[in-house]
Amino acid sequence: MKIKHLVIGCSVLLSAHSAMAQQKPEDVIRNRQATFNVIAANVGRIKANLDGDYKKDQVVKAAAVIQAIANAGLNSLFVAGTDKGVGYHESQAKAELFDPANSKKVDEVVDNFNEQANQLALLTTIGDKAAVQAQFGKFRATCKACHDSFRVDSTAATPAPAPAK
Ligand code: HEC
Repeated sequence: MKIKHLVIGCSVLLSAHSAMAQQKPEDVIRNRQATFNVIAANVGRIKANLDGDYKKDQVVKAAAVIQAIANAGLNSLFVAGTDKGVGYHESQAKAELFDPANSKKVDEVVDNFNEQANQLALLTTIGDKAAVQAQFGKFRATCKACHDSFRVDSTAATPAPAPAK
Protein backbone atom coordinates (compact mmCIF):
# COMPACT_ATOMS: atom_id res chain seq x y z
CA MET A 1 0.00 0.00 0.00
CA LYS A 2 2.75 2.39 0.99
CA ILE A 3 4.72 1.53 -2.13
CA LYS A 4 1.67 2.16 -4.27
CA HIS A 5 1.34 5.65 -2.78
CA LEU A 6 4.97 6.30 -3.42
CA VAL A 7 4.62 5.30 -7.06
CA ILE A 8 1.59 7.54 -7.50
CA GLY A 9 3.41 10.38 -5.76
CA CYS A 10 6.39 10.00 -8.07
CA SER A 11 4.34 9.97 -11.22
CA VAL A 12 2.56 13.16 -10.11
CA LEU A 13 5.95 14.78 -9.55
CA LEU A 14 7.20 13.58 -12.90
CA SER A 15 4.22 14.90 -14.79
CA ALA A 16 4.56 18.26 -13.04
CA HIS A 17 8.18 18.31 -14.11
CA SER A 18 7.49 17.46 -17.72
CA ALA A 19 4.76 20.10 -17.86
CA MET A 20 7.42 22.63 -16.89
CA ALA A 21 9.82 21.26 -19.48
CA GLN A 22 7.17 21.70 -22.12
CA GLN A 23 6.78 25.41 -21.41
CA LYS A 24 7.09 27.18 -24.75
CA PRO A 25 10.29 29.24 -25.15
CA GLU A 26 8.31 32.34 -26.18
CA ASP A 27 6.27 32.08 -22.96
CA VAL A 28 9.43 31.80 -20.88
CA ILE A 29 10.90 34.84 -22.65
CA ARG A 30 7.70 36.85 -22.28
CA ASN A 31 7.57 36.05 -18.57
CA ARG A 32 11.25 36.99 -18.18
CA GLN A 33 10.86 40.31 -19.97
CA ALA A 34 7.69 41.12 -18.01
CA THR A 35 9.44 40.29 -14.73
CA PHE A 36 12.34 42.61 -15.50
CA ASN A 37 9.89 45.35 -16.42
CA VAL A 38 8.12 44.93 -13.07
CA ILE A 39 11.49 45.16 -11.33
CA ALA A 40 12.42 48.25 -13.34
CA ALA A 41 9.07 49.95 -12.65
CA ASN A 42 9.59 49.50 -8.92
CA VAL A 43 13.19 50.71 -9.14
CA GLY A 44 11.79 53.81 -10.86
CA ARG A 45 9.23 54.26 -8.10
CA ILE A 46 11.95 54.20 -5.44
CA LYS A 47 14.14 56.57 -7.45
CA ALA A 48 11.29 59.07 -7.82
CA ASN A 49 10.90 59.10 -4.04
CA LEU A 50 14.62 59.53 -3.45
CA ASP A 51 14.81 62.35 -6.00
CA GLY A 52 11.72 64.12 -4.73
CA ASP A 53 9.29 63.94 -1.88
CA TYR A 54 10.21 60.82 0.14
CA LYS A 55 7.12 58.79 0.98
CA LYS A 56 8.23 55.89 3.11
CA ASP A 57 5.15 53.72 2.55
CA GLN A 58 5.58 53.86 -1.25
CA VAL A 59 9.25 52.96 -0.98
CA VAL A 60 8.51 50.06 1.38
CA LYS A 61 5.92 48.67 -1.05
CA ALA A 62 8.16 48.97 -4.11
CA ALA A 63 11.09 47.33 -2.34
CA ALA A 64 8.83 44.52 -1.15
CA VAL A 65 7.82 43.70 -4.73
CA ILE A 66 11.46 43.55 -5.79
CA GLN A 67 12.35 41.46 -2.74
CA ALA A 68 9.60 38.94 -3.49
CA ILE A 69 10.79 38.53 -7.08
CA ALA A 70 14.39 38.17 -5.91
CA ASN A 71 13.47 35.52 -3.37
CA ALA A 72 11.36 33.63 -5.88
CA GLY A 73 14.64 33.18 -7.77
CA LEU A 74 15.78 34.93 -10.94
CA ASN A 75 17.38 31.64 -12.01
CA SER A 76 13.96 30.20 -12.78
CA LEU A 77 13.67 32.78 -15.59
CA PHE A 78 16.78 31.48 -17.31
CA VAL A 79 15.50 28.27 -18.87
CA ALA A 80 18.01 26.55 -21.17
CA GLY A 81 17.26 27.09 -24.84
CA THR A 82 15.65 30.49 -24.40
CA ASP A 83 18.52 32.73 -25.46
CA LYS A 84 16.99 33.04 -28.91
CA GLY A 85 13.37 33.77 -29.53
CA VAL A 86 10.69 36.39 -29.38
CA GLY A 87 8.70 37.15 -26.25
CA TYR A 88 7.35 40.68 -26.28
CA HIS A 89 10.30 41.29 -28.60
CA GLU A 90 13.55 39.54 -29.54
CA SER A 91 15.22 38.22 -26.40
CA GLN A 92 18.22 40.17 -25.21
CA ALA A 93 19.59 37.31 -23.16
CA LYS A 94 23.09 36.27 -24.23
CA ALA A 95 23.84 32.62 -24.97
CA GLU A 96 26.54 32.81 -22.24
CA LEU A 97 23.79 33.04 -19.63
CA PHE A 98 22.74 29.45 -20.39
CA ASP A 99 26.21 27.97 -20.78
CA PRO A 100 26.81 25.53 -17.89
CA ALA A 101 30.45 26.66 -17.91
CA ASN A 102 29.22 30.04 -16.58
CA SER A 103 26.85 28.72 -13.94
CA LYS A 104 29.09 29.81 -11.07
CA LYS A 105 29.24 33.37 -12.38
CA VAL A 106 25.47 33.42 -13.00
CA ASP A 107 24.86 32.20 -9.44
CA GLU A 108 27.15 34.95 -8.17
CA VAL A 109 25.30 37.78 -9.92
CA VAL A 110 21.92 36.31 -8.97
CA ASP A 111 22.97 35.87 -5.32
CA ASN A 112 24.30 39.39 -5.21
CA PHE A 113 21.02 40.72 -6.60
CA ASN A 114 19.11 38.76 -3.93
CA GLU A 115 21.30 39.88 -1.09
CA GLN A 116 21.14 43.55 -2.03
CA ALA A 117 17.38 43.37 -2.70
CA ASN A 118 16.76 41.89 0.74
CA GLN A 119 18.99 44.47 2.37
CA LEU A 120 17.16 47.24 0.48
CA ALA A 121 13.77 45.96 1.63
CA LEU A 122 14.99 45.79 5.22
CA LEU A 123 16.40 49.32 5.16
CA THR A 124 13.23 50.80 3.65
CA THR A 125 11.42 49.69 6.80
CA ILE A 126 14.04 50.58 9.44
CA GLY A 127 16.37 53.07 7.76
CA ASP A 128 16.17 56.76 6.99
CA LYS A 129 16.27 58.24 3.48
CA ALA A 130 20.08 58.48 3.46
CA ALA A 131 20.47 54.81 4.38
CA VAL A 132 17.99 53.78 1.67
CA GLN A 133 19.76 56.01 -0.85
CA ALA A 134 23.13 54.37 -0.15
CA GLN A 135 21.71 50.85 -0.36
CA PHE A 136 19.78 51.73 -3.52
CA GLY A 137 23.10 52.54 -5.20
CA LYS A 138 24.52 49.16 -4.22
CA PHE A 139 21.39 47.40 -5.38
CA ARG A 140 21.40 49.07 -8.79
CA ALA A 141 24.99 48.07 -9.34
CA THR A 142 23.78 44.44 -9.32
CA CYS A 143 21.64 45.11 -12.44
CA LYS A 144 24.65 46.37 -14.34
CA ALA A 145 26.86 43.52 -13.14
CA CYS A 146 24.53 40.99 -14.74
CA HIS A 147 23.63 43.04 -17.83
CA ASP A 148 27.28 43.70 -18.69
CA SER A 149 27.93 39.97 -18.99
CA PHE A 150 24.61 38.40 -19.85
CA ARG A 151 22.33 40.87 -21.61
CA VAL A 152 22.81 41.99 -25.18
CA ASP A 153 23.48 45.68 -25.32
CA SER A 154 20.23 47.02 -26.75
CA THR A 155 22.06 49.73 -28.67
CA ALA A 156 24.47 47.20 -30.18
CA ALA A 157 21.51 45.16 -31.42
CA THR A 158 20.48 48.05 -33.68
CA PRO A 159 22.35 47.92 -36.98
CA ALA A 160 24.51 50.96 -37.53
CA PRO A 161 23.07 53.36 -40.09
CA ALA A 162 24.76 53.35 -43.48
CA PRO A 163 27.46 56.04 -43.63
CA ALA A 164 26.35 59.21 -45.40
CA LYS A 165 27.86 59.60 -48.84
C1 HEC B 1 21.04 37.81 -13.15
C2 HEC B 1 20.99 38.70 -14.28
C3 HEC B 1 20.19 39.97 -14.25
C4 HEC B 1 20.01 40.85 -13.21
C5 HEC B 1 20.56 40.77 -11.79
C6 HEC B 1 19.18 41.91 -13.72
N1 HEC B 1 18.87 41.70 -15.03
FE1 HEC B 1 17.74 42.87 -16.22
N2 HEC B 1 17.88 41.52 -17.72
C7 HEC B 1 18.63 40.38 -17.70
C8 HEC B 1 18.48 39.65 -18.96
C9 HEC B 1 19.14 38.32 -19.31
C10 HEC B 1 17.61 40.40 -19.75
C11 HEC B 1 17.09 40.07 -21.16
C12 HEC B 1 15.76 39.32 -21.06
C13 HEC B 1 15.23 38.88 -22.42
O1 HEC B 1 15.04 39.76 -23.30
O2 HEC B 1 15.00 37.68 -22.59
C14 HEC B 1 17.24 41.57 -18.93
C15 HEC B 1 16.36 42.56 -19.36
C16 HEC B 1 16.01 43.66 -18.62
C17 HEC B 1 15.08 44.68 -19.07
C18 HEC B 1 14.36 44.70 -20.41
C19 HEC B 1 13.09 43.89 -20.33
C20 HEC B 1 12.39 43.82 -21.69
O3 HEC B 1 11.38 44.49 -21.87
O4 HEC B 1 12.87 43.11 -22.55
C21 HEC B 1 15.01 45.61 -18.07
C22 HEC B 1 14.15 46.87 -18.06
C23 HEC B 1 15.87 45.16 -16.99
N3 HEC B 1 16.46 43.98 -17.35
C24 HEC B 1 16.05 45.84 -15.80
C25 HEC B 1 16.81 45.36 -14.73
C26 HEC B 1 16.98 46.06 -13.48
C27 HEC B 1 16.42 47.45 -13.17
C28 HEC B 1 17.75 45.25 -12.69
C29 HEC B 1 18.24 45.50 -11.29
C30 HEC B 1 17.35 46.05 -10.33
C31 HEC B 1 18.04 44.06 -13.45
N4 HEC B 1 17.46 44.16 -14.69
C32 HEC B 1 18.78 43.01 -12.96
C33 HEC B 1 19.42 39.94 -16.67
C34 HEC B 1 19.48 40.52 -15.40
